[in-house]
Amino acid sequence: MTTKIIGTGSCPGERVVTNDDLANIVDTSDEWIRPRTGIHERHLTTGLGTAGMAAEAARLACENAGISPEELDLIIMGTSSPEYCFPSGACQVQAAIGAVNAAGFDLSAACSGFVFALMTAHSFLKSGLYRKALVIGADDLSKLVDWSDRRTCVLFGDGAGAAVVTAEEDGFFEGVMGCDGKKWEVLTCQARSGGNFLTEEKPEMGYISMDGQEVFKFAVKKVPECIRQVLDANGTEMSEVKYYILHQANERIIDSVAKRLKEPIEKFPMNIQRYGNTSGASIPILLDEMNREGKLNRGDKIVLAGFGGGLTWGAILLEW
Ligand code: COA
Repeated sequence: MTTKIIGTGSCPGERVVTNDDLANIVDTSDEWIRPRTGIHERHLTTGLGTAGMAAEAARLACENAGISPEELDLIIMGTSSPEYCFPSGACQVQAAIGAVNAAGFDLSAACSGFVFALMTAHSFLKSGLYRKALVIGADDLSKLVDWSDRRTCVLFGDGAGAAVVTAEEDGFFEGVMGCDGKKWEVLTCQARSGGNFLTEEKPEMGYISMDGQEVFKFAVKKVPECIRQVLDANGTEMSEVKYYILHQANERIIDSVAKRLKEPIEKFPMNIQRYGNTSGASIPILLDEMNREGKLNRGDKIVLAGFGGGLTWGAILLEW
């Protein structure tokens, strides 16, 4: 028993914000941002928020898969920016699309969220417990960014992507996940802090804080490693892989991974130019765009690879 993606959907934030727009609010420029990150513009949400974008991506994924939301058994949403501590965003999506028969929960793995969620859904399908699942990556990091910090605010965008997956007899699905908790401080966003009536701490919210160079070094080392791991586990050669769909954090990270794997950059599709880093949403948004552009054919071998805060990483080799 294996897992197949049968439909995808995506929903970026409603408003496009260019590098020039950001140069009006912080001391930065298109000339600085573009060559260092590859980002030209990003989408920010102005109302939909994490759950709203996720629900729209989910609706489109069900439509694309040709299924009714009532057929879903499970919804897993990878997010680090839900609107509520509880309920989960998955429960909000369940209500919004009418997936009345699905259990749902959120999973926190920062920018690796979609890969971790897909691995989790695969485990449920493989065990036979469920047959159809909706896997979502959705993030509204713009509400967690310090808009006076030029080192981080230029990097992120908002969006959601979703995939419907089913249990199938044919094909293969090979995955690996990992984390290095010792490096948790490299990329953080503190949740609401503050004690209780005994501690007299004032509640406060944190902003995204990042050691960019540490993240860069980690990503260019770890991503090729975990990609090689899933290929070896499956006995698949790199030449057999049609596309490597990587988390869209930075064009230079993707270039460097391609070089380290000695694979042509054409096998690494990118849309970071238009969306920036949408965290858990970046892989399923790109997957959806490629699916709708007809770039993916049944039987294609593709690799998905995510990395981010935790530090976390994960790679999946699957047959389209
Ligand atoms: N505009 C203009 N100048 C900026 C800037 C901006 N948006 N951001 C930082 N700078 C300045 C810094 O203040 C610093 O100036 P100083 O030397 O006068 O203090 C200078 O540029 C260099 O900063 P530094 O942080 O060393 O830049 P960098 O070359 O490491 O590039 C990143 C920064 C963030 C682009 C790069 O580290 C990176 O891409 N890291 C990976 C981040 C990532 O992908 N995170 C998400 C992972 S899921």
